[in-house]
Amino acid sequence: GKGEYDHYMLKEIHNQPTSLANTIEGRVEDGDVAFEALPPGSFDGIESVQFVACGTSYHAAMYGSQLVREAGIRADVLRASEYESTTGPVDETTLTIAVTQSGETADTLDALRTAADRGARTLAVTNVVGSTAAREADDAVYIRAGPEVGVAATKTYSSQAVTLALLSQRIAGDVPDATPADDRAAMLEALADLPEHVETVLESTHAETLAQDTLDSESFFFIGSGLGRSVALEGALKFKEITYEHAEGFAAGELKHGPLALVTEETPLFAVYTSGDDEKTKTNAIEAKSRGAPIVAVGPTDHPLVDVADAHLSVPETHPVWAGLLANVQLQLLSYHAAKQLERPIDKPRNLAKSVTVE
Ligand code: F6R
Repeated sequence: GKGEYDHYMLKEIHNQPTSLANTIEGRVEDGDVAFEALPPGSFDGIESVQFVACGTSYHAAMYGSQLVREAGIRADVLRASEYESTTGPVDETTLTIAVTQSGETADTLDALRTAADRGARTLAVTNVVGSTAAREADDAVYIRAGPEVGVAATKTYSSQAVTLALLSQRIAGDVPDATPADDRAAMLEALADLPEHVETVLESTHAETLAQDTLDSESFFFIGSGLGRSVALEGALKFKEITYEHAEGFAAGELKHGPLALVTEETPLFAVYTSGDDEKTKTNAIEAKSRGAPIVAVGPTDHPLVDVADAHLSVPETHPVWAGLLANVQLQLLSYHAAKQLERPIDKPRNLAKSVTVE
């Protein structure tokens, strides 16, 4: 049941310190990444990676694919529903990773099957043991987030992103010439603190007040660059999905190529960043501010954006790879509280289903 919470979504947001601890458990050992089912050598022969996914899982895949690319391995992330028209050639040197919470999403299964037919090696990253994706792929990795009841994916996104980040390092260990992150030790050490950092966000957030202050707006924009971009897209998807308000996510640098025409005092802009050197997000947020948009900085406190912003949803200092996930928890809470104030049916938004088994 929902226990002390009004909605499953809030319960699941608050479950994240526990679900993330489960995701991480046993997967970092002696300063290295370990996946029981995929020991060193498992990815021998792999030269490139493609991720296929839908919706929130696509945003987690964006997160993971950036880390694979940073390790010097070619990686693409493709919308599962557009797989046929967006994939390049695949063969046995390609690893196609289907990211799917339910393991039953028709578009994702379809992409997975097409990739397998064409000779790619396949891997399912899923929450559901024994799901179709897990059974059909060559290998399966479980995100171990526990059951998620709310239609809006929250804790499963966080567990997907962490699993994919770890997987990126595991794959990099097997691909010749790949360069696992040079600050990998620091990254893995900071991961151990992630559950506690999520707890800090849950305890200190003022997302509820901010939702109240900004709710009477025309549209809600979310921008970011790099890992921050995937979080911005996810923030906008969650917001529109449960509030029914117009929300869009953009790459920070794309704002001036069109969307800026929509920016007014009636369009709050949430600027997501993961590290202090994210100049692009800052300059584009300033551009929006000069058009009158209220700016909300979403990220660590030690960043020049905080000084120009009208409000700040802060996250604890950590490795940039995990900061985006903490920023996302703030945005989950923002969406939840906005939807609650609007009296939306939060756990079952209109027209949506938890598992989309039609194409
Ligand atoms: C959004 C949401 C959907 C799913 C998408 C893929 O909150 O839940 O966008 O992420 O339908 O579902 P799975 O991960 O089960 O393949």
